[in-house]
Amino acid sequence: MTSALILAGGFGTRLRPLTCTRPKPLFPLGNRPLSEILVQRLSEVVDRVVFAINYQAEKIMQYFGSGEKYGIEIKYAKEKRPLGTGGPIKHAQNLLDDSPFLVLNGDVISLIDFKDMLNFHKQRGDALGTIALYPVEDPSRYGAVELDDAYRILRFVEKPPPGEEPSNLINAGAYVLDPEVFDYIPENEPFSIERGVFPIFADQMKLYGYKYNDVWLDMGKPADYIQANKYVLDHFLKKTDSSINKGAFISSSAKIEEPVHINASIAIGKNVEIARETHIGPYVCIGDDVSIGQGCRIENSIIFPDVRIESFSSINNCIIGEAATLGRWVKIEGLTIIGDYCTIKDNVTLTSGVMICPWKTVSDSIITPQTVM
Ligand code: GTP
Repeated sequence: MTSALILAGGFGTRLRPLTCTRPKPLFPLGNRPLSEILVQRLSEVVDRVVFAINYQAEKIMQYFGSGEKYGIEIKYAKEKRPLGTGGPIKHAQNLLDDSPFLVLNGDVISLIDFKDMLNFHKQRGDALGTIALYPVEDPSRYGAVELDDAYRILRFVEKPPPGEEPSNLINAGAYVLDPEVFDYIPENEPFSIERGVFPIFADQMKLYGYKYNDVWLDMGKPADYIQANKYVLDHFLKKTDSSINKGAFISSSAKIEEPVHINASIAIGKNVEIARETHIGPYVCIGDDVSIGQGCRIENSIIFPDVRIESFSSINNCIIGEAATLGRWVKIEGLTIIGDYCTIKDNVTLTSGVMICPWKTVSDSIITPQTVM
């Protein structure tokens, strides 16, 4: 058996205003959450996926259910408290098999060839760990590595200060680990795999790097989340998926500029209303039970379920959290995030990365980057 562990328990600090109603792994991307896209991709490689969960664990368990999905077994390792990026691996030991297994950050979208990566790891012979490595311009926010010609990682430096990066290759959040790793992780304690295990494996010359250089998006950041949505709308929606579900009532004078996904599943009584002369798209994902008034313009944005947008408002490059209400002539742009259940009053403009925490009412415009608590 081959298994994979998905780390799906983080709080997601930078997208926190959106986590009132759902954990980050269930954030919508096109017509389904990222974690489901991951499970589907893994189904070609593994027999079992284990979700390492804590924050709003029940919602993830409810979504994936017990049993199988895409022909593979789904299991859960629920932590009583967050155990970081390493603790969950030990916690899931009984659910993982005794051959090398995959560990994936649950908030990264990539096209890493997991099968090839597993083979790469096995072919090394002495490898205890293999980390997928991705080149970035500024590695200081990530874990960066120094690699030799035999793909051995000589040093692993977590969040190196600018100027002290060993290379521009960063940890892409996908690993193959040998079961020996369990001996290095304490039980039931918060523990970082990056700080507590990788440097030891590197010292033993048993940590390898698997270079990868295609799509890589870390959904933990608003810009990447919007980019990931765009990517999924372009590439991951199957041809057979209808991009506009039957429960959408769209005025004949509204304009839908594809790619757009409108999630109004009439089968479970959900609908979406889009009034006249409103322009939606490109790259918009709209959740169940959203209503949008007349003359609105929405592009390159993610609208969570139950949102109400009144007439003549515009949204560009933003994320609107569940059950938020936007008044008339509201303008929201520049990677602004509106938290779940917020109210934005008529005529308000919000630009430049403003972050509005859940349940807030905003009556005045804000045009400089800030968080409204
Ligand atoms: P950001 O600061 O927004 O990136 O928050 P984060 O919580 O996602 O942190 P980080 O990027 O370090 O997490 C890497 C991966 O590990 C992500 O997929 C997280 O969901 C996951 N993760 C982080 N902390 C925990 C934890 O305590 N338990 C579990 N099961 N997963 C975790």
